[in-house]
Amino acid sequence: MSEFTIPTATLNDGHTMPQVGYGVWQVEDAVAEKTVAQALEAGYRSIDTAAIYGNEEGTGKGIKASGVAREDIFLTTKVWNGEQGYDTAIAAAKASLQRLGTDYVDLLLIHWPCPAKELYVDTWSALVDLRSQGLARSIGVSNFQENHLQAIIDETGIVPVLNQVENHPYLVQEPLRSVHERHGIKTEAWSPLGQGKDLLQDSVIAEIAAAHDATAGQVVLAWHLANGTIVIPKTVTQSRMTENLGAVNLTLSAAELAAITGLNRDERLGGDPDVVGND
Ligand SMILES: NC(=O)c1ccc[n+]([C@@H]2O[C@H](COP(=O)([O-])OP(=O)(O)OC[C@H]3O[C@@H](n4cnc5c(N)ncnc54)[C@H](OP(=O)(O)O)[C@@H]3O)[C@@H](O)[C@H]2O)c1
Repeated sequence: MSEFTIPTATLNDGHTMPQVGYGVWQVEDAVAEKTVAQALEAGYRSIDTAAIYGNEEGTGKGIKASGVAREDIFLTTKVWNGEQGYDTAIAAAKASLQRLGTDYVDLLLIHWPCPAKELYVDTWSALVDLRSQGLARSIGVSNFQENHLQAIIDETGIVPVLNQVENHPYLVQEPLRSVHERHGIKTEAWSPLGQGKDLLQDSVIAEIAAAHDATAGQVVLAWHLANGTIVIPKTVTQSRMTENLGAVNLTLSAAELAAITGLNRDERLGGDPDVVGND
């Protein structure tokens, strides 16, 4: 049994998912098999991969090797930019299931809107049908801006369960978060630790960490959890898997949370969602 009780988020379709998951971007396929099994052993029950990560096979093998029952794991994958369009997205999702070695994913996302392709509404319709067929239990999006969210809701009447966006104390995303709240869409943070770069050296974070005898990573993740955000920190370092889960036992004061939110610089580490995948 894990020593951590991971909080659960309830999605707008009634399904629930762990508020802390394990992300595998930039984990090689052969390595993913090991790290996914280690993460499940550490207590994670949610895994975030994507077709473009090239590690769906390793992720699927890691799940099987862990011995944890498939129904106890919340598995997410994503349809890549080059696979947008109704038929291509259906085929892409089925290929992902095959690589993952599973009959369904718990959550299927459109990876980026790629607005210039003008295909994300058709792609969303494909996800709606994949959900009806039971191949995806929940459906959502990633890197969508307000106008992209509005377009899929207007065209299909189906609201995504969540929007997975870049989010950390240097990119607080307050305007987009209030759009999410208005629609009942959960915010899921990618690069929740700011990719382990400058953010984890920030003196404000360091001071709060010292006050709680915690690490900088735990403080940042505890801030996300207090905001109601779903997080999917990535690490291939076994000790950090447990360290990051420890954030669930860390409660920050209102003043500490406000100080962390005050670090916002509107600074992106990743691409601009209006531009990525448009070419
Ligand atoms: N939808 C999208 O477009 C999108 C884009 C990017 C990411 N994502 C998803 O979000 C997940 C997480 O984002 P991310 O991988 O970009 O960044 P992240 O989770 O913010 O940071 C990962 C980096 O931080 C290091 N790290 C992890 N825990 C740490 C700790 N406690 N102390 C110090 N360093 C720590 C890791 O190093 P080691 O691994 O060496 O330990 C790694 O270099 C991805 O894996 C992926 O699943 C989605």
